[in-house]
Amino acid sequence: MSLTPNDPRLLTPGPLTTSHETKAAMLHDWGSRDTAFLEANARVRQKLLEIAGATSTHVCVPLQGSGTFAVEAALGTLIPRSGKALVLVNGAYGQRMTKMLGYMQRAFVVQETPEDSPPDLEALQQTLANEPSITHVLAVHCETTSGILNPVEQIAEFVAQHKRSLIIDAMSAFGAIPLDAQQVKFDAVMASSNKCLEGVPGMGYAIIRREKLEQSKGNAHSLSLDLYDQWQAMEASSQWRFTPPTHVLIAFDKAIEQFEKEGGVAGRNARYSENCRTLVSGMADLGFEPLLPPERQAPIIVTFRMPADPAFDFQTFYDRVKERGYILYPGKLTVAPSFRVGCIGHLQPIDMQAAVDAMKAVLVEMGVASGKPA
Ligand SMILES: Cc1ncc(COP(=O)(O)O)c(C=O)c1O
Repeated sequence: MSLTPNDPRLLTPGPLTTSHETKAAMLHDWGSRDTAFLEANARVRQKLLEIAGATSTHVCVPLQGSGTFAVEAALGTLIPRSGKALVLVNGAYGQRMTKMLGYMQRAFVVQETPEDSPPDLEALQQTLANEPSITHVLAVHCETTSGILNPVEQIAEFVAQHKRSLIIDAMSAFGAIPLDAQQVKFDAVMASSNKCLEGVPGMGYAIIRREKLEQSKGNAHSLSLDLYDQWQAMEASSQWRFTPPTHVLIAFDKAIEQFEKEGGVAGRNARYSENCRTLVSGMADLGFEPLLPPERQAPIIVTFRMPADPAFDFQTFYDRVKERGYILYPGKLTVAPSFRVGCIGHLQPIDMQAAVDAMKAVLVEMGVASGKPA
């Protein structure tokens, strides 16, 4: 596995830095109905189920487009028109699911906590006990808005106790933060190719409990986002219904091969955790403060509060760090000015240290004495 020389290092939560091997896999053309492609497709679907510990209970349905397409498709396919969702919101991606439900005219209620706080589990219990009309609970595993790790294990326990259906947006966590269907009872999990499995962007996928998908015929509000139809067609012919993202799928197959060589979820989690530690401690030496305490921080992306030094200007900082080869990520918090640095992608702790060194040099150039926030 190697980095492509002279490419910028993406400290972003996807698209992210991919290995040279993954990119090189795209240098060929593939017939979408040819056996070689169909075999790769079947392999990828099977491996994704294995990663989720879900081979005997769930099926994997891939879908063209970015992660949002897969989330919207899963909600529209699994929540019937007569259903009602409870959405746990503590950032933009929970919020986005409420927007989708609005578009598809499904009833929903929202339980919101601040961006730096996990969902309120007591309130969840109470709502599930008091509102029998709720059929589905929607949660985000790592809320990429802040980088917070949400307690999906406990959420799943409560949802199962109350016999409701749990749908998890695990976009930025899948493959790096353990989520095993044998231990965490979920009916669907959605993620995409260009996150912790380190593929290139272009497709998402949903891992759905077979019996729930079997019952979802006719629910979808959209043909292209109907995962029941996508699944049925793929089961019948092994093919995608509509033009598949062939190169993306082949690169994903290659990326998953490297994921397995690294030791699967445990191996990837260990590298990202070390990336995160290197980043946070290096940034602390420069005065920067993360938004989240370590126990709430997922090793995926870190939100830093904006420095108070009047000489600091984020756009200048961003541009100059980029000139040194590292792409940072603007903040998405509504509560406080911030910026983010991703720990995921084909990067090692040594790359994170080099990024911190680049940021240090830029601060000196800008005449910023410290990254300390107000
Ligand atoms: C948790 C989460 N959900 C959904 C999405 C949406 O994915 P996309 O931007 O690929 O549509 C993202 C993207 O970063 C995410 O982090």
